[in-house]
Amino acid sequence: MAGVSRQAVANWRTRYRDFPQPLVELKAGPVFKVGPVRAWLRKRKIPMARIVSLINLKGGVAKTTTTVALAETLSSQHGKKVLVIDLDPQTNATTMLIGENKWKSLNKKGYTLATLFKDALDPTNRTFDLDKTLQKGVSDVKGANTIDLLPSSLDLIDVQDRLAGAPSGQFYAQTPIDLLRLAVKPILDDYDIVLIDCPPNLGIITLNGLRISEGYIIPTVPDVLSTYGIPQIVKRVGNFSKDVGEDIEPLGIVITKYQENSTIHYNVSRDLRGRGDPPVFDTVIRQANQIAAAAENQPSERTLKQKYGYGDLAERYIDLAAELIETLEDL
Ligand SMILES: Nc1ncnc2c1ncn2[C@@H]1O[C@H](COP(=O)(O)OP(=O)(O)OP(=O)(O)O)[C@@H](O)[C@H]1O
Ligand SMILES: [Mg+2]
Repeated sequence: MAGVSRQAVANWRTRYRDFPQPLVELKAGPVFKVGPVRAWLRKRKIPMARIVSLINLKGGVAKTTTTVALAETLSSQHGKKVLVIDLDPQTNATTMLIGENKWKSLNKKGYTLATLFKDALDPTNRTFDLDKTLQKGVSDVKGANTIDLLPSSLDLIDVQDRLAGAPSGQFYAQTPIDLLRLAVKPILDDYDIVLIDCPPNLGIITLNGLRISEGYIIPTVPDVLSTYGIPQIVKRVGNFSKDVGEDIEPLGIVITKYQENSTIHYNVSRDLRGRGDPPVFDTVIRQANQIAAAAENQPSERTLKQKYGYGDLAERYIDLAAELIETLEDL
């Protein structure tokens, strides 16, 4: 993770009294929790990617739009190097970032994350090619030149079902929730921020994303149905986090598609903020008419403002990205 030898870690442990304590000392060596070691490395200015999943059990609450807009804002406004991992079989983040034609040609060649998960189902298969799957310099937003993408595929629907029912044979010495972690390990720390767009469920594929995340964001429309599952998400991710022995923090709820004239939106937003657990980002993303156009990848570049409409949407995403950076700094 830090790109140093075992000896270097041993030296750090003797030299720095604030180096995290190991969970256990095995014969093979000490075992540390990733979170505290990452935090320690960050404090010492050793570059570490910040990894965040966007989840909600409800569909259509702007998980994907928020993922892509945050990536484009973090890249164009903050010069961050961003990796977007699309784990949703609907492939919306993928087509927003590279367009449908490009996706089709990648999918034909098997250069999507579906191949990674398919390989896991058949131990004789070793076809996932990280280099060829990683799409560099995606997005049609001017100045957003530092976004890479690991594309998704419609084939993930099928894979998800098969993974869930797969036997735990020898091949699963590595459990199916570690597939993504092991695959992306070599490239993760090339990035400042990794954003993972998850499907609207907490199935095995989403868990693969959470497994490498230090935190998650819950985009939600402030209505009863969209917010209903939030306590369940927090509880289940909390349990999962305990199971895998890593901290996966709820970074906050993002209120999306807010309608100024809706009493329900007003009341539900107020209640979410009143509860404060998980916290709610200050920035509110309003319902806008023009945003549908943002979903289409364009052949020519446009500015953030052109992409996200004439209203204040681009500014709000800029605010949200700033809030996210701050939240991560405090973590
Ligand atoms: N602020 C907004 N105003 C108006 N429409 C929006 C806004 N944000 C997103 N949308 C639209 O809402 C729809 C759902 O958004 P999006 O695909 O981002 O949601 P999602 O949570 O990722 O959905 P899914 O669960 O299907 O993956 C899209 O058509 C998108 O263009
Ligand atoms: Mg989506």
